[in-house]
Amino acid sequence: MTGLFTPTEADAEVRRRIASRGPITFAEFMEVALYWPDGGYYASRRSFGPLGDFYTAPLAHPVFGALAARQLLTMWRALGSPAPFAVIEAGAGDGTLALDVLAHAAALGGGFADAVAYTAVDPREPSPDFPARWVRSGGVPAVGGSGVVLANELLDAMPLHRVTQEGGRLRELFVDAAPEGGFIEVTGESSTSALAERLDSLGVTLSEGFRTEVCLAPDAWLTESFAAIERGYLLLIDYGHEASVYYDESRRAGTLRCYSGHTLGMNPYFGVGRQDISAHVEFTSVRSAAIAAGFTEAGEMSQAEWLRSLGIDGYRAEIAERSGLSHIERRANLHGIDVLVDGEGMGGFRVLAFAKDAPADGVLGVSLPQSAPAPLAGARHMPFGAAPLR
Ligand SMILES: C[S@@+](CC[C@H](N)C(=O)[O-])C[C@H]1O[C@@H](n2cnc3c(N)ncnc32)[C@H](O)[C@@H]1O
Repeated sequence: MTGLFTPTEADAEVRRRIASRGPITFAEFMEVALYWPDGGYYASRRSFGPLGDFYTAPLAHPVFGALAARQLLTMWRALGSPAPFAVIEAGAGDGTLALDVLAHAAALGGGFADAVAYTAVDPREPSPDFPARWVRSGGVPAVGGSGVVLANELLDAMPLHRVTQEGGRLRELFVDAAPEGGFIEVTGESSTSALAERLDSLGVTLSEGFRTEVCLAPDAWLTESFAAIERGYLLLIDYGHEASVYYDESRRAGTLRCYSGHTLGMNPYFGVGRQDISAHVEFTSVRSAAIAAGFTEAGEMSQAEWLRSLGIDGYRAEIAERSGLSHIERRANLHGIDVLVDGEGMGGFRVLAFAKDAPADGVLGVSLPQSAPAPLAGARHMPFGAAPLR
């Protein structure tokens, strides 16, 4: 019988690596804890949605996917309405965003839905009935032609290094096996000079005892994204900060977080493979890496601004007035929509657009007339406030 305290195969793999090579970087620990095919968190858990550990914007309400479809329509038009039009969604998770985008694309008319060639990419297995192409990979498949690489809350799930300032020097945090079981952190010389180089390039010097994260993984991923399409756009949605805020004294304990059963935790070494691990994204470096890869900037705004300019308020008003909805249905749908634009939560996420050989102005968050009824939350989405009142 397995229980909460029975070690997973991911836990065993971390131990094997430490036994053979000594303490490992946090990035390697996180890679195994989240992505080890046998017992890694994303490989084995029902992570998403009502019965999972956390929810993301697509899970909050399908209007997110509907509005993302409108964003893709604007980009498709800016590229001259090509067919096929590749949409590569990296980090597709449980496929909810893909399903909602594809459902709404059909309502947008003008040949858009027929042009869309959707590829969902994720190391996870797709659900058996997923209706589009699914590539099990951590890379970005090169599809060529015109299109968009889209990623919602992908960068925050990429393995990262942890560093600290100790004795006036930058040191890296490594993961070691504790003699009495469990894992401990030990500090040592950085595993790569790229960590100090990253902080130097940002003009960041950490104060003594500061512990934080440096995520190098997006650099290679952005280079692959650039190569994946001949022309088009990259659209990133995630939560995080500019480097000056990320490495501010107010965050001297870092931004690493764990999620299990919709509960926030701070100990990544508990239940290895049974809880999600993520950190805020440091956008200054992401932007620089995207530009170094070859992209040009094509706009940036908060998620609330983006969804409002795409028309979320119109959808909300329509649901508020729609006849035939029960009180509970209406309340759950309106709450899901409000969550998406809540400035203290998801509404504060950042939306970053980049262009490759494509018009960079006037493509992000363009308002379009509402051409279809607002979609309603279904079984995949969060049943906000849907419990009967007592
Ligand atoms: C926080 S979840 C977000 C899922 C989905 N985008 C959403 O918004 O619901 C992160 C997802 O990214 C996937 N992932 C992590 N690294 C990846 C990579 N390099 N390429 C593709 N997917 C990746 C994980 O397996 C997981 O499904």
